[in-house]
Amino acid sequence: MATIRNKAGAELTVLPYGATIQRLLIPDREGVLRDVVLGYDREEDYAVNGDYVGATIGRVGNRIGGACFSLNGKEYRLEKNDGENQLHGGHRGFDKQIWDTEISGNRVICRRLSPDGEEHYPGNLAVQVEFELTEENDLVIRYDADTDADTPVNLTNHSYFNLNGEGSILNHRLTLYAEKVTANGQGCLPTGRFLPVEGTALDFREEKALGRNIDADEEQIRLVGGYDINYVLSGKKAAVLWAPESGIEMTVETDLPGTQLYTANFLRERIGKGGRAIGPRSAVCLETQLFPNAMRCYSFPSPILHAGEHLHSETAYRFRIR
Ligand code: GLA
Repeated sequence: MATIRNKAGAELTVLPYGATIQRLLIPDREGVLRDVVLGYDREEDYAVNGDYVGATIGRVGNRIGGACFSLNGKEYRLEKNDGENQLHGGHRGFDKQIWDTEISGNRVICRRLSPDGEEHYPGNLAVQVEFELTEENDLVIRYDADTDADTPVNLTNHSYFNLNGEGSILNHRLTLYAEKVTANGQGCLPTGRFLPVEGTALDFREEKALGRNIDADEEQIRLVGGYDINYVLSGKKAAVLWAPESGIEMTVETDLPGTQLYTANFLRERIGKGGRAIGPRSAVCLETQLFPNAMRCYSFPSPILHAGEHLHSETAYRFRIR
């Protein structure tokens, strides 16, 4: 594992298994360090526990309907690992691979080559994920990838945030800079339809407690037992999450068009790092991404990385005190 820290005492640990953020210590209002991501004590625990906790997700994050797509006139049949669909890259996605991991100054750099045919995807894909921890308590994740054949790519990080370090996230306040979502059908799969958030429980354009409408009697909430939906971002600033108790505020910025808001509805109950309880609504994910099911919804931005093209994408999580 690779650990880096800054002068303020903030600390980041990344595991080679899944290029996983295992630990992220951020000073709270009193200067006490809080671990703001869920995780497990040992690297072995990640292999048995699942749920993508803290992991780098690929080759294609989120869902592909029917677990198949066509590209350049060829049909690709993928593994179904989420009902009839594929979720987060298949049975052995990037989250279950061992990455070459090294420290360079205030960065942890993870690299791997996803070979042609891995999980039935075309093309050798060389991927680098860089995690930078700045003196201002910003965690910046940079994704770079190159392929020798056209292939879909959608990379994200699946950290489960809890800005108090433990307990429920229902009292966390969220602002999400989005006017609409990609509406889900069955199986949390976008249908291709867009839905304005105005007047619904999905509206986070003004700061609101996560718990306020989480049990609303609305289709998009009922379908997934809380929040598990892709927001169409209005700009680079995606979201602000704040925990009044610790005073820690996290601003998410990205160059990607979407963010999955997931309130850990399906997270199995377990014991995590240092005996902390993990379970539904004990954390919230803000997975920056291309729109889910983009291989089947042709009006969505294309996730295809062409042979010879370079992919570069950045997402920053900026931690401050409020
Ligand atoms: C994403 C998905 C969820 C769930 C989690 C992992 O957030 O949208 O439905 O699969 O990943 O469990």
